[in-house]
Amino acid sequence: MSEKRILLIVGGGIAAYKSLELTRMLRKAGVAVRPILTRAGAAFVTPLSLAALAEDKVYSELFSLTDEAEMGHIELSRSADLVVVAPATADLMAKAAQGLANDLASTTLLATDKPVLMAPAMNVRMWEHAATRRNLATLTADGVAFVGPDEGAMACGEYGPGRMAEPAAIFEAIMAALGGGARPLAGKRALVTAGPTAEPIDPVRMLTNRSSGKQGYAIARALAALGAEVTLVSGPTALSAPAGVTRVDVESAREMLAACEAALPADIAVCVAAVADWRPADTSGKKLKKGSGAPEPIALVENPDILATLSRGARRPRLVVGFAAETNDLEAHAKAKLGKKGCDWIVANDVSVEGAMGGDDNTVALVSAGGIERWDRMAKDAVARRLADRIAQEFA
Ligand code: C5P
Repeated sequence: MSEKRILLIVGGGIAAYKSLELTRMLRKAGVAVRPILTRAGAAFVTPLSLAALAEDKVYSELFSLTDEAEMGHIELSRSADLVVVAPATADLMAKAAQGLANDLASTTLLATDKPVLMAPAMNVRMWEHAATRRNLATLTADGVAFVGPDEGAMACGEYGPGRMAEPAAIFEAIMAALGGGARPLAGKRALVTAGPTAEPIDPVRMLTNRSSGKQGYAIARALAALGAEVTLVSGPTALSAPAGVTRVDVESAREMLAACEAALPADIAVCVAAVADWRPADTSGKKLKKGSGAPEPIALVENPDILATLSRGARRPRLVVGFAAETNDLEAHAKAKLGKKGCDWIVANDVSVEGAMGGDDNTVALVSAGGIERWDRMAKDAVARRLADRIAQEFA
């Protein structure tokens, strides 16, 4: 990996301190880091800290005679294999989406011919603002990859999506984008389902659940980081597609099953989606009207079981992994589910632990015919990496 180089643009946000840790991780992995620190970024971290960790000079000014004499901004923009923006502030995203070039960071983004990866970080309202949504869509269409943001408590005291992804997740996305690191799953195809499904009642109403999709997205990202070619079949979520992963958006369970079957053959299937067990028997083409008296009951029919269908299908992936949320008798229920679904492993998720649903941590046990491995409580990203490592061992 020693020949790989990244250009790291550090924008102005409280998350800038995490970019110091990211720089340290990259250097440790033998990746050269050339930093650009925006003026706003320099309000949060010092050029000296960044230079010391990057073991390189920090570039800041577009019209600096010394900088330009050493390396012009155009050359700078081409000097790396990948351009990483972390934190990518709302301002930097807006400039890049518009093609503005009024400082060194934006000029570099406009001049580069290299892939760009952004790790957004901003207040939740800013992230959810229509202008940022538009900029995100424009940048995605322009081929920019994104990692994060995460959802959680923010430095500004609000709660929601907008927190910069953790350095480890950005590091993994960088390694996947650079095509470096250990790639024990290179040449293997993986299918991951994630998020909830939405089952239409009429054109405006649906049955769904609160699955955030975080765990499934993290698994897709971790498998891609180990070199697998990943298709992520996702129900509606607020998350952006991990870098290097093919995402197929679906709504209903039946659409999810069709998208999974279209993604076969695969070597690995990991079913993380919280698929609705039932759907309305009939979907009205017109909005159901409020009548007088009691409403008509909604008749339900059972949805296909995607995990069981993939496990028992003619084109069964070699390794099929399911998830099970349990509140009690984790092991017994997970073992029973292995038989019922026909899969190889069940990642049993102890949802009796506070914060397991929708939070960033998970307490799981890996159950197979051979036994049970209990894992300590850890971040969903860490669960994903450990599971991806276990999968890689299976294919070693
Ligand atoms: O039966 P239960 O919903 O507890 O099983 C959970 C596992 O089965 C998860 O891996 C989930 O993704 C998968 N599943 C599925 N299709 C369904 C229901 C569950 O793939 N219709």
